Amino acid sequence: MRDEFLDPVAAADEEVAEVGLRPRLLAEFVGQAELREHLQVMLEAAQRRGQPVDHLLFAGPPGLGKTTLAGIVAAEAGVTLHVTSGPAFERQGDVAAVLTKLEPGDVLFIDEIHRLARPVEEVLYPAMEDFQLDIVLGKGPAARTLRLELPRFTLIGATTRTGLITGPLRDRFGHVARLEYYDPGELQDIVTRAADILGVRIVPDGAYEIARRARGTPRIANRLLRRVRDFAEVRAGGVIDLGVAKAGLALFGVDELGLDKVDRAILDALCRRFGGGPVGLSTLAISVAEPTETVEDVYEPFLIQRGMLIRTPRGRMATAAAWHHLGLTAPADPPPAAASLFDDDRA
Ligand SMILES: Nc1ncnc2c1ncn2[C@@H]1O[C@H](COP(=O)(O)OP(=O)(O)OP(=O)(O)O)[C@@H](O)[C@H]1O
Ligand SMILES: [Mg+2]
Repeated sequence: MRDEFLDPVAAADEEVAEVGLRPRLLAEFVGQAELREHLQVMLEAAQRRGQPVDHLLFAGPPGLGKTTLAGIVAAEAGVTLHVTSGPAFERQGDVAAVLTKLEPGDVLFIDEIHRLARPVEEVLYPAMEDFQLDIVLGKGPAARTLRLELPRFTLIGATTRTGLITGPLRDRFGHVARLEYYDPGELQDIVTRAADILGVRIVPDGAYEIARRARGTPRIANRLLRRVRDFAEVRAGGVIDLGVAKAGLALFGVDELGLDKVDRAILDALCRRFGGGPVGLSTLAISVAEPTETVEDVYEPFLIQRGMLIRTPRGRMATAAAWHHLGLTAPADPPPAAASLFDDDRA
């Protein structure tokens, strides 16, 4: 039932494959026009003032470019990027160890920042706001607080769940940017660029076909490109044209709308097993044998965006489009209007 195209477990191998494809400068970063412009202005302003860029929070579904953008901010500012993640900080001392290593202006990137432990998060507040670190030495009545001055740095946080970021943490970012799904034209540019880097021969029609079915996500576009390239090399003449793209995508179980096996299993469970819902998230996840978080962070946002699934206070429901996509007839009364894409209602 696991699907290799979205499987987070495949992420380690993928990191290797992604490295060469990652844009390094803002000018190479495709799409997200509004966000790119915001960053351009912030970077230039900071440069003119001779100060580090304000702290940034990037939010959005996996594979849309959060880590890439953190690298770009550091590269454009000409500073060192330090990469870590929320769960890596176990104690307050871990924060001190990381922050005291920073040089003035450096970028500290904390992935999955919504998974920071509360006490850890609290030592970050003064560090972000006043570039100070309060370290408690000893315990009980003999405890003393040592205050350290930190160099001014830029914290960039990434999260797939804005709903899980606490108010105080969110408020300390100078800018919160939400990454949106890419449109097929943008993804076509990304596929074409990646094909160029990988030395794959592809025609515009073929690139568009891959782009169109990539769930609005650059990481998936690049992954589909690699699989279609395999197919093109083994079963066709090596060139990816429209026909080769279609046949390759079909072989790997990606349908006309870009839905993969798990997407279809979710819709299928929702419609056939639960009569269209509402059904709770955990029940739905169990019925497709996927972790709850994976369904919530990876599959659901896309199905919501495609108008196939909605979140209601009573649970998840299939829309008429979902029934239609499965070739089924929707029940008579339509479900209520869609809820927001990123809110964390764990109904
Ligand atoms: N705008 C873009 N232009 C070109 N390539 C992109 C763009 N955004 C992402 N990519 C490609 O997609 C891959 C995944 O992007 P990235 O790792 O930055 O996503 P992410 O948002 O950090 O995902 P996650 O939430 O899983 O950490 C990158 O290796 C890069 O090749
Ligand atoms: Mg990332």
